[in-house]
Amino acid sequence: MRGYFITFEGPDGSGKSTQIKLIKEYFEKKGFDLIITREPGGTRISEKIRDIILDNDHTEMDYIAEALLYAAARAQHVSQLIKPALEEGKVVICDRFVDSSFVYQGEGRGLGKCVKEINDIAIRGCMPDVTFLFKIDPEIGNMRIKNKNRLDMEKIDYHRIVYNAYLKLEKEYPDRIKGIDAGRSIDEIHEEIKEYLEKLLK
Ligand code: ADP
Ligand code: TYD
Repeated sequence: MRGYFITFEGPDGSGKSTQIKLIKEYFEKKGFDLIITREPGGTRISEKIRDIILDNDHTEMDYIAEALLYAAARAQHVSQLIKPALEEGKVVICDRFVDSSFVYQGEGRGLGKCVKEINDIAIRGCMPDVTFLFKIDPEIGNMRIKNKNRLDMEKIDYHRIVYNAYLKLEKEYPDRIKGIDAGRSIDEIHEEIKEYLEKLLK
């Protein structure tokens, strides 16, 4: 038996965490056993790696070191939390996953194909069944964020490259990646995701 692995992706400030919280409340009321988690993070060790990666003081971080740290946090997360939960038939909802590395490190940092190679090792075949891609101009997303981390503070050009890479991924994997117009109201977006998941989890 295998559960469902659902990920949320998109620019910073696009509304992913807000929607995940609403989905959690809605499906838990209906008696679903959901695992809600995030990247980088989700386990004790991965959260420690998160602190290192996002620290505003770590301005000298090497791009390869950054990509490996994200992948290390992910390897721990997959083996300790995501894979066991899916094997128990649970629904796992994760705020960001491997697509974030493809776009932020692969394209944004220009590391290319090696990011996929590193992450293939980290995820051991554990790919999402469905990915919601929150589509919004990265400048608007960035304006919504109150406490900015090291990545949020990157120049807008970087965020544009990242966003265009997301749109490319959406075209490449139309069966897995579902685009969401994230410029609408919180309620409208919630309705769309809720309806989609209700059909999927029936
Ligand atoms: P993310 O997790 O994608 O970084 P958040 O859910 O934390 O984004 O949202 C960033 C900010 O924008 C929060 O202050 C949140 O209340 C606000 N927000 C979320 N969704 C919307 C929306 N649809 N319209 C306007 N503001 C929103
Ligand atoms: P976070 O505060 O969780 O951002 P958000 O609320 O937008 O999800 O910070 C995570 C940051 O790390 C975000 O800027 C995206 C970046 N990131 C990567 O660059 N690569 C990755 O593999 C992951 C998971 C995140």
